[in-house]
Amino acid sequence: MPSIKSQPIDARLTRSAIFLIATIHPDGQNQKRVRKLCGDLSGLLRAVGFRDPNGELSCVTGFGSDAWDRLFGIPKPRELHPFREFHGVHDAVATPGDILFHIRAARMDLCFELASQIVQRLGDAISIADEVHGFSYFDQRDLLGFVDGTENPTGEAAVEATIIGEDDLDFQGGSYVIVQKYLHDLEKWNALPVEEQERIIGRKKLSDIELDDDEKPSSAHNALTTIVENGEELEILRDNVPFGDVGKGEFGTYFIGYARSPHRIEMMLENMFVGKPPGNYDRLLDFSSAVTGGLFFVPSFTLLETLVEGAPATSENLQE
Ligand code: HEM
Repeated sequence: MPSIKSQPIDARLTRSAIFLIATIHPDGQNQKRVRKLCGDLSGLLRAVGFRDPNGELSCVTGFGSDAWDRLFGIPKPRELHPFREFHGVHDAVATPGDILFHIRAARMDLCFELASQIVQRLGDAISIADEVHGFSYFDQRDLLGFVDGTENPTGEAAVEATIIGEDDLDFQGGSYVIVQKYLHDLEKWNALPVEEQERIIGRKKLSDIELDDDEKPSSAHNALTTIVENGEELEILRDNVPFGDVGKGEFGTYFIGYARSPHRIEMMLENMFVGKPPGNYDRLLDFSSAVTGGLFFVPSFTLLETLVEGAPATSENLQE
């Protein structure tokens, strides 16, 4: 197998993040400009990141299904399709987005500078559909007060969960990512007794210890998002980040999940929104509304560099 470099999907535990989602205007010149930026990204990252060697600046770039067709055509990653909506008592909606930049660093100024440089390069070829500036909050908690990210796989298990292998040869080293912006009704949430909040999440609030099976309801968030197929747990890698605007009373969690197949994240969403069995949905959603939703393919870094030239995405190109 050629040595394929993946994008820095597992660059985690940074203090700051920017999630930038853009739509690309249809004209051919605009597609060309976006492809050119893909080639310039590593240089931009080096220039901004080198200013603070301890800044841990990273950027993951993903492409939506329609954008992939317009930018790169055939072949297409096997499981890339528009975000699937789920409807139950609450809705997981699909919102516009052609390209995602997931920018992380130890300092917000690094994230901000890289985001500005990217947007400046793309100019009027794009419109920003959504931009969220997130921060890490007391011992990795979300704004609901629970530690978020504990059960993430690490090391080899994280690679196994997220990076495409020989199952899609042309796209080895790539990954899929699903994002959703959630807004919380914190007043309503904070009015709940802590024990009830713990039964919704499935873990203790202060200690972050998982509830025993006999006290955890089947609707608990961590029960509905544990997916087992053929005796194997299908894991994903999350890097949720809190964000907000106190003046507007906006308190949110930006959900981001990477996986080697979108199917496992979609099963989690189905369990959360439709319920397992249907009706037994995630009560977290009574306090959290998903206002955006997108699915993107994250090509390997190696493939990204060849796509810039307008070459088709084939495994032969990966080997050059
Ligand atoms: C676990 C919060 C949305 C997938 C957790 C935990 C918290 C949490 C506090 C327990 C600690 C941990 O293991 O990380 C939230 C919040 C969300 C959200 C505040 C949005 C409002 C989602 C979504 C998915 C998801 C949309 C997938 C589609 C998972 C998974 C686990 C988890 C896989 C680990 C389950 C386990 O193995 O125990 N989440 N989550 N979460 N969440 Fe979420």
